[in-house]
Amino acid sequence: MLAPLPYWHWIRFAEDRRFELDMRQVHAAIDGFIAQARAGLERQPELRRQPANLLQALVVARDQSGSGFSDEDLRGNVLTMLLAGEDTTAQTLAWVLYLLHRQPQAADRARAEVDEALDGADIATELAQLEQLDFVEACIAEAMRLYPVGPVIALETRRDTVVAGVALPRGTGVMLETRAAGPDAAHFEQPEAFLPEHWLPGQWSRQLASTRRAVMPFGAGTRICPGRYLSLVEMKMLLAMLLRHFELEEVCGPGGAPVRELYAFSMRPAGLKAALRLRRDH
Ligand code: HEM
Repeated sequence: MLAPLPYWHWIRFAEDRRFELDMRQVHAAIDGFIAQARAGLERQPELRRQPANLLQALVVARDQSGSGFSDEDLRGNVLTMLLAGEDTTAQTLAWVLYLLHRQPQAADRARAEVDEALDGADIATELAQLEQLDFVEACIAEAMRLYPVGPVIALETRRDTVVAGVALPRGTGVMLETRAAGPDAAHFEQPEAFLPEHWLPGQWSRQLASTRRAVMPFGAGTRICPGRYLSLVEMKMLLAMLLRHFELEEVCGPGGAPVRELYAFSMRPAGLKAALRLRRDH
């Protein structure tokens, strides 16, 4: 994605060969997952009416006559799920920890909210507990405003169109930059600051409905991220567990430096290091 020239069409270095080998293993693993899902459906044909998971649902859709959905499409979709769901969520969490460490009042407020919601429990086991974590959710939204892990969305026009006065014929590749509004003072008070309060009613928030539309960490439209609610549940569960049991002793870049953004398919905190310590009041 980032190479100026696709040199590997003509020459392959050791790194490229390693990549091909890795990809073969990933595809073999995916074929294994699909075979397992099929075996499960054969053992319990009633699952075809009500699949137990997304993979089974994809296999059922593939098998419907006239689905127009090939085995290759199925593999591609499973691969997308694997790629799209893991790093994005993990890296967003890493940014949240980094920002909370630099803003101890926000970390304290998030911790107090978690303590109250968990009411002595070690981890969140009910959605109702997570629903009480408005401030934690605001921390996540704020981290995604400042450091969206998917800041570039690749699109292709399906018909001739004009965007902001620029004519785009059908089939034009467009790289959409989604982070422009995040640091924009037109949408956010003190846009450069990590202020979870931007996302809660009160002195720091503008019109919340339009604020929410201004940033698009999960994309928008028909291809909006289908994992957005799942990822929020995952992130809130993990943050609740961490804040309940640990203090953030250090979260920084290599050698204690501020963290740099590194774009490699998704935007990651380069070389982020985190040291946690059990809470003293634990
Ligand atoms: C913090 C976590 C996440 C972020 C920031 C994120 C962000 C994004 C973005 C920006 C897109 C492109 C949307 C567009 O083209 O308009 C996308 C697509 C996608 N995401 Fe996520 N994502 C996250 C978590 C997940 C999870 C947990 C899953 C699945 C378990 C997932 C599955 C997908 C899939 C399958 C697509 C492609 C959808 C399509 O092209 O129709 N994502 N995500």
